Amino acid sequence: MAGSPRHLSLFPLRLLLLLPLLAAGKPVLEDGYTVTTFADLNPLPASGPHPYAVLPRSRAGDLLLLDSAGSALYTISLSSSPGEPRRLAGGKRGSGFNDGGPGDAAFDRPRSVAVDAADNVYVADRLHGAVRKVAPSGYTTTIAGGFSSGPGHRDGPAQNATFSPDFALVYVPKICALLVADRGNRMVRQINLKPEDCAHEKQSGLGNTLVSFIAVLCTLLGSLIGFLARHFYPVNAGSLRQPLFQQDTEAIPEDTEEGNSDQLLRHKKRSC
Ligand SMILES: *[C@@H]1O[C@H](CO)[C@@H](O)[C@H](O)[C@H]1NC(C)=O
Repeated sequence: MAGSPRHLSLFPLRLLLLLPLLAAGKPVLEDGYTVTTFADLNPLPASGPHPYAVLPRSRAGDLLLLDSAGSALYTISLSSSPGEPRRLAGGKRGSGFNDGGPGDAAFDRPRSVAVDAADNVYVADRLHGAVRKVAPSGYTTTIAGGFSSGPGHRDGPAQNATFSPDFALVYVPKICALLVADRGNRMVRQINLKPEDCAHEKQSGLGNTLVSFIAVLCTLLGSLIGFLARHFYPVNAGSLRQPLFQQDTEAIPEDTEEGNSDQLLRHKKRSC
Protein backbone atom coordinates (compact mmCIF):
# COMPACT_ATOMS: atom_id res chain seq x y z
CA MET A 1 0.00 0.00 0.00
CA ALA A 2 3.03 2.25 0.48
CA GLY A 3 3.51 2.55 -3.30
CA SER A 4 -0.06 3.49 -4.24
CA PRO A 5 0.06 7.30 -3.69
CA ARG A 6 3.06 7.60 -6.01
CA HIS A 7 1.22 5.49 -8.57
CA LEU A 8 -1.77 7.80 -8.46
CA SER A 9 0.25 10.96 -8.83
CA LEU A 10 2.06 9.60 -11.92
CA PHE A 11 -1.11 8.54 -13.69
CA PRO A 12 -2.03 11.89 -15.42
CA LEU A 13 1.60 12.33 -16.55
CA ARG A 14 1.58 8.91 -18.22
CA LEU A 15 -1.63 9.78 -20.03
CA LEU A 16 -0.04 12.97 -21.32
CA LEU A 17 2.97 11.03 -22.65
CA LEU A 18 0.64 8.65 -24.49
CA LEU A 19 -1.30 11.41 -26.27
CA PRO A 20 1.19 12.06 -29.13
CA LEU A 21 1.33 8.30 -29.82
CA LEU A 22 -2.45 8.13 -30.11
CA ALA A 23 -2.48 11.09 -32.49
CA ALA A 24 0.24 9.48 -34.68
CA GLY A 25 -2.03 6.50 -35.36
CA LYS A 26 -3.91 8.43 -38.03
CA PRO A 27 -2.35 7.74 -41.49
CA VAL A 28 -1.48 10.60 -43.83
CA LEU A 29 -2.39 9.33 -47.31
CA GLU A 30 -0.14 10.36 -50.20
CA ASP A 31 -1.45 9.67 -53.71
CA GLY A 32 0.45 8.94 -56.91
CA TYR A 33 1.80 5.41 -56.40
CA THR A 34 0.86 2.14 -58.10
CA VAL A 35 1.41 -1.49 -57.14
CA THR A 36 1.92 -4.10 -59.85
CA THR A 37 3.17 -7.69 -59.76
CA PHE A 38 6.71 -7.75 -61.08
CA ALA A 39 7.03 -11.55 -61.06
CA ASP A 40 4.50 -14.16 -59.92
CA LEU A 41 6.42 -17.33 -59.13
CA ASN A 42 3.37 -19.39 -58.13
CA PRO A 43 3.06 -21.16 -61.52
CA LEU A 44 6.59 -22.55 -60.99
CA PRO A 45 7.13 -25.90 -59.19
CA ALA A 46 6.98 -25.76 -55.40
CA SER A 47 10.71 -26.51 -55.34
CA GLY A 48 11.33 -23.29 -57.30
CA PRO A 49 12.31 -20.01 -55.73
CA HIS A 50 10.43 -18.58 -52.78
CA PRO A 51 11.83 -15.06 -52.60
CA TYR A 52 12.82 -14.06 -49.09
CA ALA A 53 14.87 -11.04 -50.17
CA VAL A 54 15.65 -9.34 -53.48
CA LEU A 55 18.62 -7.16 -54.44
CA PRO A 56 19.62 -5.59 -57.76
CA ARG A 57 22.90 -6.64 -59.41
CA SER A 58 24.38 -3.55 -61.07
CA ARG A 59 26.66 -5.15 -63.67
CA ALA A 60 24.27 -7.81 -64.93
CA GLY A 61 21.39 -5.37 -64.53
CA ASP A 62 19.18 -8.10 -63.10
CA LEU A 63 17.70 -9.01 -59.76
CA LEU A 64 19.05 -11.44 -57.18
CA LEU A 65 16.45 -13.60 -55.39
CA LEU A 66 17.38 -15.12 -52.08
CA ASP A 67 15.35 -18.27 -51.45
CA SER A 68 15.89 -18.77 -47.75
CA ALA A 69 13.71 -21.86 -47.35
CA GLY A 70 15.30 -23.50 -50.39
CA SER A 71 18.83 -22.38 -49.38
CA ALA A 72 19.43 -21.15 -52.91
CA LEU A 73 20.19 -18.01 -54.90
CA TYR A 74 18.48 -17.16 -58.17
CA THR A 75 18.65 -14.30 -60.63
CA ILE A 76 15.78 -12.92 -62.66
CA SER A 77 15.73 -10.41 -65.51
CA LEU A 78 14.73 -6.86 -64.69
CA SER A 79 12.81 -6.47 -67.97
CA SER A 80 9.05 -5.92 -68.20
CA SER A 81 8.56 -9.67 -68.80
CA PRO A 82 11.14 -11.12 -66.42
CA GLY A 83 10.69 -14.76 -67.47
CA GLU A 84 11.86 -17.64 -65.28
CA PRO A 85 14.46 -17.18 -62.57
CA ARG A 86 17.84 -18.85 -63.10
CA ARG A 87 19.58 -20.67 -60.31
CA LEU A 88 22.88 -18.98 -59.39
CA ALA A 89 24.07 -21.31 -56.61
CA GLY A 90 22.85 -23.70 -53.93
CA GLY A 91 19.57 -25.51 -53.53
CA LYS A 92 20.64 -28.75 -55.19
CA ARG A 93 22.07 -30.51 -52.14
CA GLY A 94 19.50 -29.26 -49.67
CA SER A 95 20.73 -27.12 -46.83
CA GLY A 96 24.26 -27.33 -45.48
CA PHE A 97 27.71 -25.82 -45.75
CA ASN A 98 29.59 -26.58 -48.91
CA ASP A 99 31.65 -24.43 -51.27
CA GLY A 100 32.58 -24.86 -54.92
CA GLY A 101 30.70 -24.85 -58.22
CA PRO A 102 27.06 -23.72 -58.52
CA GLY A 103 25.75 -27.30 -58.12
CA ASP A 104 28.04 -28.13 -55.19
CA ALA A 105 27.42 -25.00 -53.14
CA ALA A 106 25.10 -25.42 -50.17
CA PHE A 107 23.75 -22.87 -47.72
CA ASP A 108 21.75 -23.20 -44.55
CA ARG A 109 18.56 -21.16 -44.87
CA PRO A 110 20.37 -17.81 -45.17
CA ARG A 111 18.35 -14.65 -44.57
CA SER A 112 20.76 -11.88 -45.44
CA VAL A 113 22.69 -11.22 -48.64
CA ALA A 114 24.66 -8.30 -50.06
CA VAL A 115 25.79 -7.60 -53.65
CA ASP A 116 28.95 -5.64 -54.49
CA ALA A 117 29.76 -3.54 -57.60
CA ALA A 118 31.19 -6.62 -59.38
CA ASP A 119 27.96 -8.61 -58.76
CA ASN A 120 29.58 -10.88 -56.17
CA VAL A 121 26.94 -12.01 -53.71
CA TYR A 122 27.80 -12.27 -50.01
CA VAL A 123 25.73 -14.62 -47.88
CA ALA A 124 25.47 -14.29 -44.11
CA ASP A 125 25.86 -17.89 -42.93
CA ARG A 126 24.64 -17.40 -39.37
CA LEU A 127 24.56 -21.08 -38.52
CA HIS A 128 28.26 -21.50 -39.26
CA GLY A 129 29.39 -18.02 -38.25
CA ALA A 130 30.70 -17.51 -41.77
CA VAL A 131 30.44 -15.09 -44.66
CA ARG A 132 30.22 -16.80 -48.02
CA LYS A 133 30.96 -15.24 -51.40
CA VAL A 134 29.21 -16.29 -54.61
CA ALA A 135 31.01 -15.06 -57.75
CA PRO A 136 28.90 -14.13 -60.80
CA SER A 137 29.76 -17.61 -62.17
CA GLY A 138 28.05 -19.19 -59.16
CA TYR A 139 31.36 -20.42 -57.69
CA THR A 140 31.15 -20.18 -53.91
CA THR A 141 33.91 -19.56 -51.36
CA THR A 142 34.07 -18.72 -47.68
CA ILE A 143 35.68 -15.33 -47.00
CA ALA A 144 35.22 -15.06 -43.23
CA GLY A 145 34.84 -17.51 -40.38
CA GLY A 146 36.29 -20.46 -42.28
CA PHE A 147 38.69 -21.42 -39.45
CA SER A 148 36.61 -20.35 -36.50
CA SER A 149 33.66 -22.11 -34.96
CA GLY A 150 31.12 -20.99 -32.42
CA PRO A 151 29.85 -17.50 -31.71
CA GLY A 152 32.05 -14.60 -30.61
CA HIS A 153 33.27 -11.19 -31.67
CA ARG A 154 36.87 -11.81 -32.63
CA ASP A 155 38.31 -9.32 -35.15
CA GLY A 156 41.47 -9.84 -37.20
CA PRO A 157 42.14 -12.14 -40.17
CA ALA A 158 38.67 -12.81 -41.56
CA GLN A 159 38.94 -16.61 -41.58
CA ASN A 160 39.60 -16.53 -37.80
CA ALA A 161 36.88 -13.99 -37.04
CA THR A 162 33.73 -14.89 -35.10
CA PHE A 163 30.24 -13.41 -35.19
CA SER A 164 27.08 -13.69 -33.15
CA PRO A 165 24.49 -16.23 -34.38
CA ASP A 166 22.37 -13.33 -35.67
CA PHE A 167 23.97 -11.00 -38.17
CA ALA A 168 23.12 -9.35 -41.49
CA LEU A 169 25.26 -7.92 -44.30
CA VAL A 170 25.23 -4.73 -46.34
CA TYR A 171 27.65 -3.60 -49.05
CA VAL A 172 28.91 -0.04 -48.56
CA PRO A 173 30.65 1.15 -51.76
CA LYS A 174 31.95 4.37 -50.18
CA ILE A 175 34.34 2.42 -47.95
CA CYS A 176 34.60 -0.66 -50.21
CA ALA A 177 33.50 -2.92 -47.39
CA LEU A 178 30.78 -5.17 -46.13
CA LEU A 179 29.28 -3.94 -42.90
CA VAL A 180 27.92 -6.55 -40.57
CA ALA A 181 24.94 -5.69 -38.40
CA ASP A 182 26.12 -8.02 -35.64
CA ARG A 183 22.87 -8.00 -33.71
CA GLY A 184 23.82 -10.57 -31.08
CA ASN A 185 27.00 -8.66 -30.22
CA ARG A 186 25.40 -5.21 -30.44
CA MET A 187 28.19 -4.22 -32.84
CA VAL A 188 28.69 -3.09 -36.41
CA ARG A 189 31.58 -5.09 -37.83
CA GLN A 190 33.50 -4.38 -41.04
CA ILE A 191 34.93 -6.71 -43.68
CA ASN A 192 37.11 -4.86 -46.19
CA LEU A 193 36.67 -5.99 -49.78
CA LYS A 194 39.16 -6.15 -52.64
CA PRO A 195 39.37 -2.95 -54.77
CA GLU A 196 38.20 -4.82 -57.90
CA ASP A 197 34.98 -5.78 -56.10
CA CYS A 198 34.15 -2.09 -55.64
CA ALA A 199 35.20 -0.93 -59.13
CA HIS A 200 33.03 1.88 -60.39
CA GLU A 201 31.38 2.30 -63.78
CA LYS A 202 34.72 3.13 -65.45
CA GLN A 203 35.66 -0.54 -65.43
CA SER A 204 32.24 -1.83 -66.42
CA GLY A 205 31.07 -2.36 -69.99
CA LEU A 206 28.98 0.77 -69.95
CA GLY A 207 31.94 2.78 -68.60
CA ASN A 208 34.18 1.55 -71.41
CA THR A 209 31.61 2.65 -73.97
CA LEU A 210 31.45 6.05 -72.29
CA VAL A 211 35.25 6.42 -72.28
CA SER A 212 35.43 5.45 -75.97
CA PHE A 213 32.70 7.93 -76.78
CA ILE A 214 34.57 10.74 -75.00
CA ALA A 215 37.80 9.78 -76.82
CA VAL A 216 36.03 9.92 -80.19
CA LEU A 217 34.45 13.25 -79.23
CA CYS A 218 37.86 14.67 -78.26
CA THR A 219 39.40 13.51 -81.56
CA LEU A 220 36.57 15.09 -83.55
CA LEU A 221 36.83 18.29 -81.54
CA GLY A 222 40.61 18.32 -82.01
CA SER A 223 40.21 17.86 -85.77
CA LEU A 224 37.63 20.63 -85.93
CA ILE A 225 39.86 23.05 -84.00
CA GLY A 226 42.80 22.03 -86.17
CA PHE A 227 40.74 22.62 -89.29
CA LEU A 228 39.55 26.03 -88.08
CA ALA A 229 43.03 27.04 -86.89
CA ARG A 230 44.43 26.17 -90.32
CA HIS A 231 42.26 28.87 -91.84
CA PHE A 232 42.73 31.53 -89.21
CA TYR A 233 46.32 30.85 -88.32
CA PRO A 234 48.10 33.03 -90.93
CA VAL A 235 46.18 36.13 -89.77
CA ASN A 236 46.99 35.51 -86.10
CA ALA A 237 50.53 34.38 -86.76
CA GLY A 238 51.45 37.73 -88.26
CA SER A 239 50.39 39.79 -85.28
CA LEU A 240 51.38 37.41 -82.50
CA ARG A 241 54.49 35.59 -83.54
CA GLN A 242 56.44 38.09 -85.61
CA PRO A 243 57.79 40.32 -82.82
CA LEU A 244 58.50 37.52 -80.36
CA PHE A 245 59.75 34.62 -82.46
CA GLN A 246 61.11 36.27 -85.56
CA GLN A 247 64.47 34.56 -85.36
CA ASP A 248 62.97 31.19 -84.50
CA THR A 249 60.61 31.28 -87.45
CA GLU A 250 63.50 31.93 -89.74
CA ALA A 251 65.66 29.29 -88.13
CA ILE A 252 63.05 26.53 -88.55
CA PRO A 253 61.76 26.67 -92.11
CA GLU A 254 59.50 23.57 -91.69
CA ASP A 255 57.52 25.41 -88.99
CA THR A 256 54.76 26.17 -91.50
CA GLU A 257 51.08 26.74 -90.90
CA GLU A 258 50.57 23.02 -91.64
CA GLY A 259 52.95 22.04 -88.84
CA ASN A 260 51.39 24.45 -86.38
CA SER A 261 47.86 23.25 -86.87
CA ASP A 262 49.11 19.68 -86.46
CA GLN A 263 50.83 20.67 -83.24
CA LEU A 264 47.65 22.30 -82.05
CA LEU A 265 45.75 19.13 -82.91
CA ARG A 266 48.29 16.99 -81.05
CA HIS A 267 48.12 19.29 -78.04
CA LYS A 268 44.34 19.16 -78.07
CA LYS A 269 44.39 15.36 -78.15
CA ARG A 270 46.83 15.24 -75.25
CA SER A 271 44.71 17.53 -73.13
CA CYS A 272 41.66 15.34 -73.73
C1 LIG B 1 43.75 -18.72 -37.55
O1 LIG B 1 43.33 -20.06 -37.47
C2 LIG B 1 44.26 -20.98 -38.00
C3 LIG B 1 43.65 -22.37 -37.96
O2 LIG B 1 43.06 -22.64 -36.70
C4 LIG B 1 45.58 -20.92 -37.21
O3 LIG B 1 46.53 -21.80 -37.75
C5 LIG B 1 46.09 -19.49 -37.25
O4 LIG B 1 47.22 -19.37 -36.42
C6 LIG B 1 45.02 -18.51 -36.79
N1 LIG B 1 45.52 -17.15 -37.00
C7 LIG B 1 45.32 -16.19 -36.11
C8 LIG B 1 45.89 -14.87 -36.44
O5 LIG B 1 44.68 -16.37 -35.08
